[in-house]
Amino acid sequence: MSTLPARTRPLTLKVNGRSHGPIDVPEDMMLVDVLHEYLGLTGTRFACGQGECRACTVIVDDAHGTREMRSCITGAHYFADKPIRTVEGHARRDESGRIVELSPVQQTFLDHFSFQCGYCTPGFVNAATVLLEKLAKAPVAKARVEATILEALDPHLCRCTGYVRYFEAVKELVLKTPGLVREDAP
Ligand code: FES
Ligand code: FES
Repeated sequence: MSTLPARTRPLTLKVNGRSHGPIDVPEDMMLVDVLHEYLGLTGTRFACGQGECRACTVIVDDAHGTREMRSCITGAHYFADKPIRTVEGHARRDESGRIVELSPVQQTFLDHFSFQCGYCTPGFVNAATVLLEKLAKAPVAKARVEATILEALDPHLCRCTGYVRYFEAVKELVLKTPGLVREDAP
């Protein structure tokens, strides 16, 4: 018995400030697969594939605000015309595309030796980036810094480390970045 070909629909994606498409993409294909197979952006990790580990997290900036989304369980067509950021978009690059400066989150994770295999790292980078951007708009009281970081990182799983170095890195960055923390009581 022959298998029916997948139904496709044209899709345009905006990833890291660049428009891709329209490309014909299967209607039920998840975003992570489109990033890997159609756009060659393999930094977003596929791990559990079931929405549990958050290795596949991307950042979406749309009318609902800036937020993390799991690309393994969200169909690519959901992201049509929504600005997406992936881990490839954080570092500063020169005109040839060569990385010349890591983002503060990436650099802090490196400085703290936060990861081992690094498979979970793109998800943690995106989570911490979203957190910092939220705090820039709504600073957190100093007494709530640790709890706020825990809430942001808690959904992300890492099989190698004890999470402590990710946590310490984000805490240091939050405390040293001007404007993210309020000195007043909670
Ligand atoms: S790979 Fe998407 S949540 Fe685990
Ligand atoms: S560093 Fe290996 S899974 Fe997190």
